[in-house]
Amino acid sequence: MINRHLSAALAASLCLVACSRATVPASASAGAAPQGLKDTFRSAFLVGAAIAPKQFEEQDVANAALVKREFNTISPENVLKWVVVHPQPDHYDFAPADKYVAFGERNGMFIVGHTLVWHSQVPGWVFQDAQGQPLTRDALLARMKDHIQTVVGRYKGRIKGWDVVNEALNEDGTLRQTPWMRIIGPDYIAKAFQFAHEADPAAELYYNDYNLDYAAKRNGAVRLVKSLLDQGIPVKAIGSQEHLKLTTPTAAEVDSSIRAFAALGVKVNMTELDIDLLPQATRNSADVSLRAGPAPSLNPYAAGLPDSLQRKLARRYQDLFRVYMANQEAIDRITFWGVSDGDSWLNGWPVPGRTSYPLLFDRQLGKKPAYDAVAAVAKEPRVVP
Ligand code: G3I
Repeated sequence: MINRHLSAALAASLCLVACSRATVPASASAGAAPQGLKDTFRSAFLVGAAIAPKQFEEQDVANAALVKREFNTISPENVLKWVVVHPQPDHYDFAPADKYVAFGERNGMFIVGHTLVWHSQVPGWVFQDAQGQPLTRDALLARMKDHIQTVVGRYKGRIKGWDVVNEALNEDGTLRQTPWMRIIGPDYIAKAFQFAHEADPAAELYYNDYNLDYAAKRNGAVRLVKSLLDQGIPVKAIGSQEHLKLTTPTAAEVDSSIRAFAALGVKVNMTELDIDLLPQATRNSADVSLRAGPAPSLNPYAAGLPDSLQRKLARRYQDLFRVYMANQEAIDRITFWGVSDGDSWLNGWPVPGRTSYPLLFDRQLGKKPAYDAVAAVAKEPRVVP
């Protein structure tokens, strides 16, 4: 239960602890008046967004300016996924990722890499030999090592943290049967972390997944990360994606997961936060392979979001940020998956062409009521679990 209030003095001393995290260059914060979420929550955790070329190439000037004003950490929505950065066996394309990293460096941001080993957005050739036959374990390990060491090595010292393995768990907490798992076996996860650590020993390494607030999958993540730590693998944090609905998971479930992960001695990052208000069209998942519709009943707010729902979204975000603030020692960063509603992947998944409202900024880049509700949490008396 979250029920104890900390004194202002204790809150101030916790602030000192949090402020000492050497994650954002001092020049990015020195003397600036509070301007955005990064300033509002500076004493607690970093706040960021997943960004795409429209922001990091500054094609959309207003959108890029919003990112600079509000956030001190960025994640690449797509440009560091295997299919983009390494589309063919002997060809890496770093042009988009170079621009992403340069944007983060120009703006003094904590730059995240996403993602090295995933079963989605990875070309079919990765798992096959020249004859189209499945690779052997050793050959796939060699290919994985080459990819990780090439990509992590290129940005050594610049990308500060990597989602090394993404979405390796089933909903029941067992390991997902991906091509990585089938060909290499369960130790593909430890190997991926080992290769990443060799390539940049100073980089933070993360395990990242969705639906980690539900008990079975939470327990699976605890087992997985504990076994990695027991092998001496330096897992810095668990990334809880936080693709959430309006009422599920509950704030208490979110709180339980943060505490379960922190008890392992790792940090917790909220890595892909958004709240889907639209009718649920598939099972409760963020699995990108799911598809449904289209149907008008699945897209009820194409003409605008009713005020009642706008308020519910604000309250939901506020409840979540109360949990995050209460657990701020465990949390290094909160990253939204996208910048404004118009950018969100939830306009296209799992039903194409919907009008979704999952973020804090509207389609005109204005602050929604949810923005103010979130910012207000920073001014509340500190509550700890
Ligand atoms: O780049 C191609 C473009 O050339 C082509 O014309 C276009 C036609 O559809 O597709 C473009 O690729 C799309 C890509 O996003 C870039 O826009 C893919 O089809 C589309 O599937 C892909 O969706 C991404 C999805 O991951 C698939 O992996 C979403 O943008 C991205 O938000 C989403 O992010 C994932 C996280 O990485 C992991 N956790 C879940 C999260 C949400 O699904």
